[in-house]
Amino acid sequence: MLSEKMARALNEQLNAELYSSYLYFAMAAYCRDLGLNGCARWMEAQALEELSHAVKFYDFISERGGRVLLSSIEAPPSRWDSPLAMFEAVTKHENKVTGLIHQLVDLAIAERDHATNNFLQWFVSEQVEEEAGVAEIVQRMRLTGEAQGALFMLDRELGQRVFTLPPGTTLVAPAAK
Ligand code: FEO
Repeated sequence: MLSEKMARALNEQLNAELYSSYLYFAMAAYCRDLGLNGCARWMEAQALEELSHAVKFYDFISERGGRVLLSSIEAPPSRWDSPLAMFEAVTKHENKVTGLIHQLVDLAIAERDHATNNFLQWFVSEQVEEEAGVAEIVQRMRLTGEAQGALFMLDRELGQRVFTLPPGTTLVAPAAK
C-alpha cells in the first residue's frame, strides 16, 4: 500500500508525464507548421511514448491501492524561435523530468518503499536513454547551422522514428483477473 505522501508524489508525476505528452504534441504541431514533417513525426512518437509513461504511473498507483487523482494540465508553448531552439527546449524539459524522477526515488528510499523504488528504476534508465537521444539531435542540428539541405536530410531521418510501446507497457487496462 502506498503512503499518502508517495501517492500524492506519484500523481504529480502522472501529471508531469501527461504534460510532457502535451508539450511534444505542441512541438509536433509547430514542426508541421514549418513543413518539417519528419521532425513532426518524431515528436508525435515522443508524445505517444510520454502517454505510455503516464499509463505506467496510472497502473502502478491503482495496483498499489492508491487513488489516481487527475489535475489540470498546463498549456504548453505553441512556438519556438527555431527547430534547434525547440530541441534545446526538449533537453531542458527532459533534464527537469530526470530531476523529478530522482526526487521520487529519494522519497521511495526514505520511506523504505522498495516496490516503488523498483518501479521507478525503469524510469531512471529511460531518462538516461532519452537525454542521450535528444543530445545527439541537438548536436547534429547545431552542426547543420543555416544549411537548409542538411536540415532537410536530418528531418527525413527523424521521420523514420516509429512509436513502439516499451516492453511490459500497454495503453489499455489489463484484463480483470
Ligand atoms: Fe516520460 Fe520524457 O520522460
